Amino acid sequence: MVGILITFDGPDGGGKTTQLGLLAEHLRRSGRTVRCTREPGGTALGDKIRDLLLDPANAEMAARTEALLYMAARAQHVAEVIAPALARGEVVLSDRYADSTLVYQGAARRLAREDLVAINRFATGGVVPDLTILLDGDAATLGGRLAGRGDADRIEGEAAAFHAEVRRGFRELAAAEPERVRAVAADRGVDEVHRAVVAVVEEFLRRRAYG
Ligand SMILES: Nc1ncnc2c1ncn2[C@@H]1O[C@H](COP(=O)(O)OP(=O)(O)OP(=O)(O)O)[C@@H](O)[C@H]1O
Ligand SMILES: [Mg+2]
Repeated sequence: MVGILITFDGPDGGGKTTQLGLLAEHLRRSGRTVRCTREPGGTALGDKIRDLLLDPANAEMAARTEALLYMAARAQHVAEVIAPALARGEVVLSDRYADSTLVYQGAARRLAREDLVAINRFATGGVVPDLTILLDGDAATLGGRLAGRGDADRIEGEAAAFHAEVRRGFRELAAAEPERVRAVAADRGVDEVHRAVVAVVEEFLRRRAYG
């Protein structure tokens, strides 16, 4: 049995966590077995690495250290959660995955893309998403959503220029891999975004079934 890996990615505040939950409900209603997970984290070990990564107290963290910690958490995530669920034929929904590293540590932190691609391949054992939903929209709208949420983590607390590079990186990613990475406009109401996400996913499932 081979499952399906769908990832949600994009800048902070795009609505990934909200939309992942709604899609999971939708897919479960249609009778599928769905496993929801997230990065960094998704495992007990990965959650400890997540705490290191997001703690604003770790301001001295070098970009390469940051990249390797994300990769270490990802390796555990694939080994312990994603690969076994895919082997059972489940639909895995991940809140962020390898694309986030290419964009945050690549486009924004300026580490060499080819290095990150190689380390991603090592960490994931070659497990690539079947479909990636990229949620992006007006920067002020998305930023305003996060403002109501209290203290920013170490990455959210980066300067506006960093977040601008993140958005640019995600747009480039979608342009480079239009088949896999599907952009959905996130600066709309929750239900409207959900309907757009469902349309993309249903189209993907139809193509996969009959393609
Ligand atoms: N379409 C929407 N319209 C208005 N508010 C929204 C919408 N989607 C999500 N929100 C709210 O905006 C905030 C951020 O949403 P959410 O946590 O789903 O985004 P995220 O992409 O997972 O963010 P992060 O990258 O920080 O994890 C939440 O308070 C959520 O309730
Ligand atoms: Mg989230």
